[in-house]
Amino acid sequence: MASEQPLGYRRGTLDDVVPCHELMWLSVTDLGRRQGTPLEGSATDWWPSSEPLHRQLAQIAAEWWVAEETDSSRLVGFARSIERDGLLELTECFVRPDQQSRGAGKALLERAFPAGRGTVRSIVATSDVRAQARYYAAGTVARFPLFTLAGVPGAMEHIRPAMAEPIDGEHAIEAQRAIERTVLGHRRSDDEIRWLLDRRQGHLYRRADRVIGFSFLGRAGAGPMAALEPSDLPAVLLHVEALARTMGLECLELQVPAPNAIAIRHLMGRGYRFDSWINFLMSDRPFGQFDRFIPFGPPLFL
Ligand SMILES: CC(C)(COP(=O)(O)OP(=O)(O)OC[C@H]1O[C@@H](n2cnc3c(N)ncnc32)[C@H](O)[C@@H]1OP(=O)(O)O)[C@@H](O)C(=O)NCCC(=O)NCCS
Repeated sequence: MASEQPLGYRRGTLDDVVPCHELMWLSVTDLGRRQGTPLEGSATDWWPSSEPLHRQLAQIAAEWWVAEETDSSRLVGFARSIERDGLLELTECFVRPDQQSRGAGKALLERAFPAGRGTVRSIVATSDVRAQARYYAAGTVARFPLFTLAGVPGAMEHIRPAMAEPIDGEHAIEAQRAIERTVLGHRRSDDEIRWLLDRRQGHLYRRADRVIGFSFLGRAGAGPMAALEPSDLPAVLLHVEALARTMGLECLELQVPAPNAIAIRHLMGRGYRFDSWINFLMSDRPFGQFDRFIPFGPPLFL
């Protein structure tokens, strides 16, 4: 039986990292069951691959709020956002299943994803009707689906050559940031790139001395990736697949925006399959060139 105890709201602290992870697991797996797309593994199983990301989000959060029962201090929900280069992204918003639809999500969103902050506010949102209702009320609009395409990394094939080189210094980081600024309209911070590089292999792609794209790939996820021209995405993706093979990855999962037709058709042609769990990119205004961008995975932010 759901309790109706009064709720209090406070900022998240490092002590909340593990309880928030456990609550997210509870909420996400409940959503998976409700939607007929059950997820595998326990919160403990998810922790080793999730921990670095949760700790990083705890560090860099623009806003991180938790809801708890005022009498027992039992955690009821949390919401968190990050802000970079004018882009405010809601990274997580989860309420305990037996406490949903009683207003906690609304109160958390008002604190963690305030109107008027940033030049663009965006969310990688689930298709949960409660989330959709809440996010429309918060001023955002579902722009397009974000698909997860998964497959076995295949062998490199000959394609219009693009030379790959590791992102390994200040100049290379600046080149990545310049491309992301052009494609997405917002750059990651230097610190965020360095955090990514500690966990993922980063590459720039060059043709005739011009940097044309970038990619990141690690064991805990792929992305972000982008190309200045969509026609260069197959070359980028083939390199990422080859890299995944050398890393011994049995499965490569990519978060692909629906407008990115070139990447979707290319991956389908290589045997990749759509996952039945579909997210949406929501934002308060149109932005970015998503026909040439593949966001960070797992799908918490771009
Ligand atoms: C999304 C979530 C955080 C919202 O928190 P919550 O506490 O349930 O949200 P609230 O009670 O504040 O608001 C839910 C709203 O959905 C509305 N709603 C519920 N079902 C609806 C439907 N079928 N159609 C339209 N609106 C609906 C409710 O009426 C309520 O709006 P109101 O307050 O204006 O009446 C929570 O439901 C959750 O954890 N969902 C599962 C995990 C998830 O998908 N999280 C989003 C990650 S991006």
